[in-house]
Amino acid sequence: MMAGAPLEWMNPMAALRMGTNFMHQRQTWRDSDGGRPSFEDAIASDEDSIPMETRPTGEEHAIYEFQRRHLRRPRDARAATDDAESMDSCIHLIAGMATLAAAIGRIRSGRLPIEPDPELGHAANLLYMMTGRRPTPLEERVMDVALILHADHGMNASTFACLVVASTMSDIYFSVDAGIGALNGPLHGGANEEVTRVLGEIGSPDRVPAWYRDARKAGRKIPGFGHRVYKTYDPRARVLAPLAGMMAESNPDCSQMYSTAKRLEDAVVSDLGAEKRIFPNVDFYSGIVYNAMGVPDDLYTVLFAVSRVAGWTARVMEYLDNNRIFRPRSLYIGDFDREYVPMENR
Ligand SMILES: CC(C)(COP(=O)(O)OP(=O)(O)OC[C@H]1O[C@@H](n2cnc3c(N)ncnc32)[C@H](O)[C@@H]1OP(=O)(O)O)[C@@H](O)C(=O)NCCC(=O)NCCS
Repeated sequence: MMAGAPLEWMNPMAALRMGTNFMHQRQTWRDSDGGRPSFEDAIASDEDSIPMETRPTGEEHAIYEFQRRHLRRPRDARAATDDAESMDSCIHLIAGMATLAAAIGRIRSGRLPIEPDPELGHAANLLYMMTGRRPTPLEERVMDVALILHADHGMNASTFACLVVASTMSDIYFSVDAGIGALNGPLHGGANEEVTRVLGEIGSPDRVPAWYRDARKAGRKIPGFGHRVYKTYDPRARVLAPLAGMMAESNPDCSQMYSTAKRLEDAVVSDLGAEKRIFPNVDFYSGIVYNAMGVPDDLYTVLFAVSRVAGWTARVMEYLDNNRIFRPRSLYIGDFDREYVPMENR
């Protein structure tokens, strides 16, 4: 499918994005005549047609308000989400991204991709296509739990990116591409790779106190900690932490990483937990779980995308059901009445 592309050295998330673009060539509901957006719809969904004399401080017509259903007109986009073809695109993306992720991992390590085995479930197939061996029931269950935990999570940055693209009545493959781009960043999905990199940098539990002291002195953010919404222990990390511990018991490499992580967690929580309500988030233990299952660390964020695409596509379908283009206003807070200075005089 991606023959000729330099997959061996490409950023794996870029390879995933490229793969979904190839999928786009194959199937999209927008390729059907009935699914094309109309010019009238585009005009009617323009945010500027709504009175906007308000500020984002909670007043009645807040700028960042997404629930004004009563102001929306029915749109053709609904028809697109009703038909089986659009659901096919979602399933195509959910299944296809798992296949792509495994193929990218194998090609990057000089091996040939493996076809999915129709006898296996989604989680087992993902592991099978990555490793070339059928997973144990425990591995399958742990991967399934990890996929469930990462599938959806409110209005996170990548879901929002998907919805913004979908709201222009672009198609779901373009929307998912936007989600992959947003998830890639270290402040979002990329944090799980950073976590295992940092744990490797620390090396062992006894080196945590000195490393942590230096990191704090340098003003470093500790990956895998903190969350915009959770000012408490992320409930997903509560599920993943014991799973990581369980996997570590039978894997000496992972065991060292796990005990280093536990020590780092104690250091961060006793310091930043009390002071700034910073606790482990979902990314802190997910990398350890994947590591124990033999997943290379540069595929962790790709696995996050393989899971989150279920949430992305569900949210896009839901949003298009009553679509309105996202068009936030920005508030100008600079000076007024400034003189224009010609370029040559600046
Ligand atoms: C998730 C995250 C982006 C949330 O960001 P946010 O809500 O904008 O919060 P801020 O970045 O403004 O942080 C608020 C304060 O906590 C501190 N802080 C937040 N996360 C921190 C971390 N992981 N390590 C150290 N300090 C942290 C900030 O330095 C800031 O301190 P200040 O008020 O003294 O300036 C942020 O916690 C972070 O960068 N975490 C590390 C990356 C990560 O794990 N991302 C995955 C999220 S699931």
